[in-house]
Amino acid sequence: MNGPMNVLLTGATGFLGEYLLAELLERGHTVWALYRNASRRIDTIRFLGSLGLPYTADSLHWFKCEVLELDKRWDRLCQQHPGIHEVNTLLHSAASIRLHMDKSGEPLRTNLGGAKVLARLAERIPIQVHMISTAYVCGLVQGAIIREINHPPGDFVNVYEESKWEAEQLWHLKATLLRPSIIVGHSETARCKTFTGWYILFQAMHLLDRLMDENKDFNRLNLDIHLPSAPHATINIVPVDYVARAAVAIIENPDNHNKIFHLTHPDPPSHQWTMDYVCKRFNVGGIHFSGDGTSMTEPRNPIERMVYRQIKTILFHFSNNPVFDRTNTNHATPHMPVPPITQDRVDRLLDYAIARDWGQGPG
Ligand SMILES: NC(=O)c1ccc[n+]([C@@H]2O[C@H](COP(=O)([O-])OP(=O)(O)OC[C@H]3O[C@@H](n4cnc5c(N)ncnc54)[C@H](OP(=O)(O)O)[C@@H]3O)[C@@H](O)[C@H]2O)c1
Repeated sequence: MNGPMNVLLTGATGFLGEYLLAELLERGHTVWALYRNASRRIDTIRFLGSLGLPYTADSLHWFKCEVLELDKRWDRLCQQHPGIHEVNTLLHSAASIRLHMDKSGEPLRTNLGGAKVLARLAERIPIQVHMISTAYVCGLVQGAIIREINHPPGDFVNVYEESKWEAEQLWHLKATLLRPSIIVGHSETARCKTFTGWYILFQAMHLLDRLMDENKDFNRLNLDIHLPSAPHATINIVPVDYVARAAVAIIENPDNHNKIFHLTHPDPPSHQWTMDYVCKRFNVGGIHFSGDGTSMTEPRNPIERMVYRQIKTILFHFSNNPVFDRTNTNHATPHMPVPPITQDRVDRLLDYAIARDWGQGPG
């Protein structure tokens, strides 16, 4: 490390952003945290307080701004916030994580628009840029090894992945591209703010559990469902604390700058492991994998139809199965093991999610 960084962090109030912020402060860096919502900022301050952060009064500064206005408002921000002009590092975590396009044009608006705005800002001020992207910029992949390189446009599963790929094209070789896979809660506390992605699978099973409970004549131990996916394929999940720790360690070393890093799990759970876990946890049985490219069996009665509908909502999790190469990440972080995904850890992640009613309850 070349001494402490002076970091402009976007997305500081988000799920990953909070852990990036905590990690930067713990490592002695100064942070200028961009926020847009006062109550979200207070939640983040509370979270930092629970960790005893920040250690010093002048290591964390907040400033309110919409990321899409950062370049236009920069001169005004420099007048309003003495010291902000000294930032030398930009860690861009803000994004819209909507999977499909809404009326306002999200997620493209923030994800590609934000990348363009930051490119204009970086033309005006000397700043080293690091972007949180996603490992799924590779698009839909069945079992192939995905390297830490710039990918040609893939068969994108949703607009979100495409918007992140578009953003990467603007920044390739000009910014460090940090690509997490599916981020889940903290490896010890299980704390999580966004119960999307991988959690949806378990939320669906949780709902199904109640549905089957209400229909006593339905045989929950023999659902006889065949999922069109391969049992040995994997879902790549990675704990949020690992992603933050690895991201900060990587950007601290100038040798890593402007390269690409997969912040993914080297030993992710297989679909069969996940399904065995689901069956045990929710006391169901008879869900099988019939292999890639097969079709689902037809429901035979109304209850089965509901069960199938629930299962279908999670099918996309089982259909995209890249194997992520981590050569650059292993080289950059040789002594940073990724917490293993064990039954005990998944139990804690789900207990936490259920206690918070999958994000509807208090945070
Ligand atoms: N979660 C995952 O599984 C996952 C996986 C791979 C990569 N990633 C990437 O990791 C990064 C963080 O994701 P996350 O899960 O932490 O998402 P998140 O919880 O939704 O946080 C997103 C953050 O971005 C901010 N933001 C969004 N649009 C903005 C805008 N137009 N201007 C200013 N701030 C804006 C949000 O501010 P508010 O608090 O005001 O809403 C929030 O702080 C993103 O780049 C995402 O693409 C996430």
